[in-house]
Amino acid sequence: MADEVPFVDITIDEEMISEAETVLKSGRLVKGPECKALENSFANLSSTDYAVGVSNGTAALLLSMKALNIGEGDHVFVPGHTYFATVSPVLELGAEPVFVDIDPDRYTMDPDQLNKAITRVENPKAVVVTHMHGQPAEIDSILEIADEYELAVIEDAAQAHGATYNGQPVGSFGDLGCFSFYPTKNMTVGGDGGMITTNNPEFTTEIRAFRNHGRNENGKHTYLGLNHRLDEIKAAVGQKQLKHLPDWTQARRDAASQYDEKLRNVEEISTPEKYDQSTHVYHHYPILVPANDREEFRAHLDEHGIGTGIHYEYAVYQHKAVRDRVGTTSLPISEEICSRTVSLPMHPQLSEEDIRYVCKNVKGYFQ
Ligand SMILES: Cc1ncc(COP(=O)(O)O)c(C=O)c1O
Repeated sequence: MADEVPFVDITIDEEMISEAETVLKSGRLVKGPECKALENSFANLSSTDYAVGVSNGTAALLLSMKALNIGEGDHVFVPGHTYFATVSPVLELGAEPVFVDIDPDRYTMDPDQLNKAITRVENPKAVVVTHMHGQPAEIDSILEIADEYELAVIEDAAQAHGATYNGQPVGSFGDLGCFSFYPTKNMTVGGDGGMITTNNPEFTTEIRAFRNHGRNENGKHTYLGLNHRLDEIKAAVGQKQLKHLPDWTQARRDAASQYDEKLRNVEEISTPEKYDQSTHVYHHYPILVPANDREEFRAHLDEHGIGTGIHYEYAVYQHKAVRDRVGTTSLPISEEICSRTVSLPMHPQLSEEDIRYVCKNVKGYFQ
């Protein structure tokens, strides 16, 4: 049915509800078998030796940075165009973010810009690479640079569950991969949740302790840690969600192909690029419109019952909280993309008719 197309549509089916009920009735609500089972399945999806469930994607990034000992005096490279949570843990730990501009077509960190930024910084410690909107970053070039300068690599894969680069899943390239299960993500746990993937056993042991008050396997507080656990109900829901992920990803990719095809000839906009070596999982389907048209364009779609989003309105360093700590930064590509981007409806339930309707109204605005 298409005179209303929501921006997102989250699936919580009867099986997931029944799993949640079973866990509630079991009385085992935290630190139990469901979290372990989701971790095993997620490590499998990501082709990593380990996965550690945590309370949300931001905690995944924070605890990964703690495992790398990131702190005062360290410089951490972050893309200019990403969600706030990519940088907030860097600031929380007292380290210095260094913002790197993005590739104008991929919307992910530009390796050439990373190369330039490194030469201007003392104590480069780590790079956080976001697989933005579900599009894998050029991770092979980033890893080469990281290798040369001995930088640790964290992949922010919060928007990219199941995406691949050269056939290998994201979250398995860097020292650590971080995922979010926030309800609108490509899969959820029925609330907030997150996951860290890694092949490093020491990081795994430390992060398991960090998420549970710093307690080690013997119940001793060997580390300083807070509470960042993933509850059993959510882990049970997450396992059911994970089973649908391949079909949901295919449905997103099919929807994106239809948008690509139907919007190809609209001169005023550009649609996301595709690359042979990677699979985009379309957490978002962002198009670029002329900056001056953006608000009116969104209002036009809204009048026709079509939900849209902006990811994101500002480059991450333009937020006051960041500016107050690190001063002003200016990166032309990040700022241009932020001024022009509009995300069209994207979720696995989109029908061909929905997409036809959205595209008709996109074209209608520009004619
Ligand atoms: C790129 C990116 N990084 C990190 C996060 C943080 O995840 P969460 O909201 O689960 O804390 C999100 C999602 O909100 C995100 O999109």
